Amino acid sequence: MGFKPLIWFREGVIARVETIDASEVINELAGTVKIAKVLFRCKAEELKRKLAQEELYESSSNKLIYSISTYNTNEAEIRGTLKKIFKDYRLKAVRKRLAPHTLAKRLHNCLDIIAVKEQKYWIGKTIACSDPYKFKERDECRPFKEPEIMSSIRIARILVNLSCVRPKATMLDPFCGIGTILQEAMLSGFNVKGLEISEARVRKSIANLEWVKKKYGIKQSFEIKKGDATKLSKYFGRESFDAIVTEPELGPLLKSLPTEKEAKYICNKLQTLYEKFFNEARFVLKENGKIVIVIPQFRTKSSRVFTIDMNKIMKKHGFRIFNATEALPIGVSVPFLYKEEWHKIERLIYVLEPL
Ligand SMILES: C[S@@+](CC[C@H](N)C(=O)[O-])C[C@H]1O[C@@H](n2cnc3c(N)ncnc32)[C@H](O)[C@@H]1O
Repeated sequence: MGFKPLIWFREGVIARVETIDASEVINELAGTVKIAKVLFRCKAEELKRKLAQEELYESSSNKLIYSISTYNTNEAEIRGTLKKIFKDYRLKAVRKRLAPHTLAKRLHNCLDIIAVKEQKYWIGKTIACSDPYKFKERDECRPFKEPEIMSSIRIARILVNLSCVRPKATMLDPFCGIGTILQEAMLSGFNVKGLEISEARVRKSIANLEWVKKKYGIKQSFEIKKGDATKLSKYFGRESFDAIVTEPELGPLLKSLPTEKEAKYICNKLQTLYEKFFNEARFVLKENGKIVIVIPQFRTKSSRVFTIDMNKIMKKHGFRIFNATEALPIGVSVPFLYKEEWHKIERLIYVLEPL
């Protein structure tokens, strides 16, 4: 996609792009919440006049639901200006705070204004919004599901994107479960291989990936083996993969927050598993390959946080963190934290490269 960044700010970027299908792009990006079209850029004193000139709202109805997201600027100021304009136009405008998945469904009859202050004001109007339910077909219609262990389509797509490899590359998910990451990788253009210790899940993965191939008419290849991710060199040759992308075993299913003793115990067990996996990963990964891996982080009942000692693993097995955002004029801390309110486990996403 032709993409020329103009302004980076903590939560986003203002960029010049070629004509794009915003709803398609937002699905491919998966981790991006909104895409807005810039309406205009102006000085503070011009804001009211420019907003009043703009055709913000296309419907013939005099009722309007709107929302505002502001970055580096005061929401009250924008809201006050908009209120006056709506009043002048005799619009019955009601402001609502809409969650992205609600906004995604209501964009046709709802106005979502984005205001960014970076020296001047940049005012935009949301044209696409991430909707996790959009992935419903790829999630719910496949032959097999296992909600207790399977990755969400959204996180699977984010992980595949973070691997930064080009289509036609070969990707491995060594803890492939029922194949969610592999299916998203195939849909992104990669040939994929998967390893899974459970025979039943190997069969489910194969059925799911065959379904994806047929349903979406894709040519990418897949191969799933039953096997142990701590013995990768038994199944694959040296430097077989451009990327390893995985959400590995994350420990037992938690119904409530763990105690400190439980969290320590789970982390110790996972530390051993991951160390063995990383020891083998170096062998099957190409020199310029990447590993994208989800590492669990446990918040205990007493609010302490326990996780895996990744520094130890990286040092021992010759990996370092790859931060694609390093060159950008914004500080993004890595590993990335992915946290949903209803999850008992927080996820740290590491992107690693061989030293
Ligand atoms: C979190 S799940 C992966 C979910 C997967 N991304 C999906 O969407 O289905 C982790 C998987 O790792 C498998 N597993 C656990 N230990 C393993 C090992 N040593 N080698 C290979 N697979 C293993 C489990 O059976 C489980 O299916």
